[in-house]
Amino acid sequence: MRMAKARIAVIGAGLMGHGIAQVFALAGHDVSVYDSVAANLDSAKARILANLKDLGDDPSAVERVRPTPDLAGAVREADYVVEAVLEDLPLKQKLFVEIETHVRPHTILASNTSVIPITKIMDGLRDRSRALGTGDSGITVNALGPTVFRSPLTQWMFEDSDRSREVRKGFLTRVPKGRLGEPSDLAGPLLFLASKASDFYTGHILYADGGYTAG
Ligand SMILES: NC(=O)c1ccc[n+]([C@@H]2O[C@H](COP(=O)([O-])OP(=O)(O)OC[C@H]3O[C@@H](n4cnc5c(N)ncnc54)[C@H](O)[C@@H]3O)[C@@H](O)[C@H]2O)c1
Repeated sequence: MRMAKARIAVIGAGLMGHGIAQVFALAGHDVSVYDSVAANLDSAKARILANLKDLGDDPSAVERVRPTPDLAGAVREADYVVEAVLEDLPLKQKLFVEIETHVRPHTILASNTSVIPITKIMDGLRDRSRALGTGDSGITVNALGPTVFRSPLTQWMFEDSDRSREVRKGFLTRVPKGRLGEPSDLAGPLLFLASKASDFYTGHILYADGGYTAG
């Protein structure tokens, strides 16, 4: 099955924004581009065309790019909005709050930030489940690093057999509490990660007692 082409809106037509628009247009998507600085908007198509020619890519892709000074008009029909304005938290927050008032219910809102946690940028959204980070430094999330916890998969380790005892011994050398974990042991850290209190922390691993990371 061939999927319909997504409609893209790029916010910010600077170094990154015009390049992002170029890549989407080359892939066949219609792309609207918004920037608050007229000169940057006006030069966007010429910069994209020059890149396409330099790279030996199809120059007609630039025809799918539509610069506009109207933010609402840029995002109204978009399936995917990606922001690439200055690295300025209040500016990005303000833009996303405004953008959310114009987009459709399932539009994905992404930021190309290099360093600002996405949770901070998207803090003002009514629906943060639509938020995404796409920066080049990867997406950092908080994680729970548990040791072995009782679950249907690990139930056998909690049983009284030679094999279970042997495997348990290996794990328990890393668990100061001297026992394997119960689901209730994870409740506190999980509640913390699900709460707004964790928004300030990005890229952390909460080690449950004796926990470790894979890889
Ligand atoms: N340059 C990089 O190598 C790089 C790499 C990865 C991620 N990023 C991130 O991408 C984002 C953009 O970086 P860049 O290098 O393209 O910056 P840039 O300075 O080249 O472009 C920023 C653009 O935002 C526009 N702008 C400013 N205020 C605006 C507003 N209120 N509404 C709309 N547009 C506005 C500016 O006119 C400019 O065209 C930043 O968050 C940056 O951290 C940059």
